[in-house]
Amino acid sequence: MSDRDSARQRGSAHGFSTRAIRVSSRPPRVDQRPTSVPVYQSVTFSAADADELGAVTTGALDGYAYSRIDNPTDTALAEAVAELEGAEAGYVFASGMAAIHASLVALVRSGDRIVCTRAVYGSTRSLLMNVLGPLGVRTDFVDATDLTAVEAALASEPARILYAETLSNPTMVLADHAALAAIAHGHGAAYLVDNTFASPYVCRPVELGADLAIESATKYLGGHSDVLAGAVAGRADLIREVRRVQIDTGATLAPWAAFLVLRGIATLAVRLERHAASSLALAGWLERQEGVLRVVHPLLPSHPQHELAARLLTGSSGMFALELSGGRPAARAFIDALTLPERTASLGSIHTMVVHPPSTTHRQLDDAGLRDAGIAPGLLRCSIGLEDVDDLQADFAAALEAARRTTAEPATA
Ligand SMILES: Cc1ncc(COP(=O)(O)O)c(C=O)c1O
Repeated sequence: MSDRDSARQRGSAHGFSTRAIRVSSRPPRVDQRPTSVPVYQSVTFSAADADELGAVTTGALDGYAYSRIDNPTDTALAEAVAELEGAEAGYVFASGMAAIHASLVALVRSGDRIVCTRAVYGSTRSLLMNVLGPLGVRTDFVDATDLTAVEAALASEPARILYAETLSNPTMVLADHAALAAIAHGHGAAYLVDNTFASPYVCRPVELGADLAIESATKYLGGHSDVLAGAVAGRADLIREVRRVQIDTGATLAPWAAFLVLRGIATLAVRLERHAASSLALAGWLERQEGVLRVVHPLLPSHPQHELAARLLTGSSGMFALELSGGRPAARAFIDALTLPERTASLGSIHTMVVHPPSTTHRQLDDAGLRDAGIAPGLLRCSIGLEDVDDLQADFAAALEAARRTTAEPATA
């Protein structure tokens, strides 16, 4: 007897499989508003009729049809990020690099030019050189702290984009957003900012004139090293272009991942306060230790742009750079001797993470590229987590002792 025949015998119009599919995809009736954003784990959304489906799919009518284009949990995250960045609109992605890629590609065509800060994340530099370069988009790198040089680079030839990082990875160079946005706009370029190291709690580039602010939400927004995500917020007309690129390139954020980032955002402020307090305490202490060449933390008076930090940032994150006088061997010994930080290559997490950029995050760069990006062989990038700061200081003290025992390699800045 077929499924359908046995169903008829029991008085149902449909067979078991049909009923199983229908009952298992029936949303529950909920009269009360949930206090968390539900995970809309559905790729497809059903329209009332063919006309409505056509209108939603083409964007003539607001709504959902297919989750590569829009998903309600993703939309909730995009709107949350836009609001926290002080922006008109936002959009989210499967990773920070996907957000950077879509933002750049939305604004350039073959034959266009980008002017980018020299102090930029390794994968972004690689995207500009190795992905966009062969497609006919040229990038010129400048020292973004030298406003005259930025002005000259934009005046010399037309450029579509001026690109900078609020706090550069890993050298902690600050970008003066108001000044850079004014220069970019004066030359008809859009000003795009990677705000990952700061997060919108510490800096809001759009409020200072940036056209788009990009976040690797994998870092402080998510905050727990358990979700990969990206976001962009800014001018509504540009976000529409960015969304168009994303629809056809498909780096869609999974709704469960969007939920995790939303959950992270709820505690962003309290986490950042603790990240900042612990990182500043450790950075100040490290600066006074033997074997330490320099510590670069935006809230230390020794930061070369300390005055700008006070204007640009409403605090700091957990990030600082630490350069050891013993060069590469000392940096390796320091990392190997640490017992509390995770030996991994991310940042912006509850876990403290110490990485050696020349052998991890900036491995794409040869020695000349590293020099150009201001990365010395003994440089370590520290992302201070939420552990007890006294425990971290004791661990760092033992690691410094191990670094000092290594045979010193001449450090070249
Ligand atoms: C400053 C910065 N921007 C962007 C990214 C890329 O983010 P994701 O790993 O989420 O693609 C990173 C990753 O480390 C980063 O440090």
